[in-house]
Order: sequence, then C-alpha cells, then structure tokens
Amino acid sequence: METAARDRQDTCEDSGTTAVSAGPLAGIRACVFDAYGTLFDYASAARRCRDALGGAWEPLAAMWRDKQLQYTWLRAAGLKTAILSNGTPAMLAAAVDKSAIGDLLDAVLSVEEAGVFKPHPRVYQLAVDRLGIAPQAMSFQSANAWDAWAASAFGMRAVWCNRYGQRAERLPGRPSHEIRTLAELPALLGA
Ligand code: LAC
Repeated sequence: METAARDRQDTCEDSGTTAVSAGPLAGIRACVFDAYGTLFDYASAARRCRDALGGAWEPLAAMWRDKQLQYTWLRAAGLKTAILSNGTPAMLAAAVDKSAIGDLLDAVLSVEEAGVFKPHPRVYQLAVDRLGIAPQAMSFQSANAWDAWAASAFGMRAVWCNRYGQRAERLPGRPSHEIRTLAELPALLGA
C-alpha cells in the first residue's frame, strides 16, 4: 500500500482532484475490470449506432462489443485478468457467456463473496486474494469515477476509463491514469 501511494505521488501531477500520468504503467501483473459501463459498455455502442443506422444498430453493437472484449493481448502480455463487479454471480455469468470472453478471464469476482458492495475495500481485497497478486501490481479499470478512486485508495493502480468526459471525484485516492476507451490500455501497459 505504501509503495502504491508513493507511486501515485511520483506519477501524478498534483493538480487538484484530476488524475493522471502520461507515462506507461510499469510492473503490472494483473488487469482487473469493473463490469458494467466498463468491460460491458453496451451504452456507447447503442448511442453511437442508433442515429446512423436506425434498427440496424443492434447487430453492429453486438459485433463491436465482442471485438472490444477480445482482449487476447492481455493473454499475450502474460497478465492475469479478472472482472470485479457489484453485479451478482448470475448476472456476470450471463454477460460473460453472451460475450464469449470466459476463456480470457482468470476470475469473475462478484461482491457477493465479500458481502458488501464497492467501494468497500473488502471488495478490492477479493481480487488480491483470488489472483494472489499485490494491489500495486494490479491495474484496475473502471468507467465509474468513484470506483477508480476507491481502487486507488485501496492501493491498486487505477485506470479511469472516462468515456464521457466526466469530472474528477473529490474522494481519497486518485487514479494513476485516465483513458477515453479501453483500446488505449495495451499501449498503457506496454502490451
Ligand atoms: C460494476 C458496476 C459498478 O460492475 O459497474 O461493479
């Protein structure tokens, strides 16, 4: 935890509440994703396609989502992968199954195991325990600012996927990086 806090200080500009470093994330051994709005981002697919394509947006959105979720590069980079979500195991299993990404994940972790919701630290600890990797060697991706801040306060290297240009949180912690889409992750992780 102390090391992570030091890293954050080293890599983040002290500019009020905003994140963020431009440099790559070094020393990451596991990549953990929030589920809804982050790994499963149906909303932006739908929004982007609806006007241009009318009723045809649905199959295109499904294809886009599948492609987005094919993070084979994570495997190539030798990183462990997981979902860490406030969803129930049944909800998550259905989403993972529909997206056919089960083979790409080492763990699908639901808060149900912790008995509390994010942002409780016990939830982030679940990923540490199940993956056997220290928080500072874990990048945690979330589109929810509160989730990214909480993971950072816990000691993970948080990456805020700020798709809609939202404002930074005024909470303890601070993501080490801010990206617009998950497509920016490979470069960030040097994968
Ligand atoms: C989740 C919600 C918060 O998957 O996006 O945990």
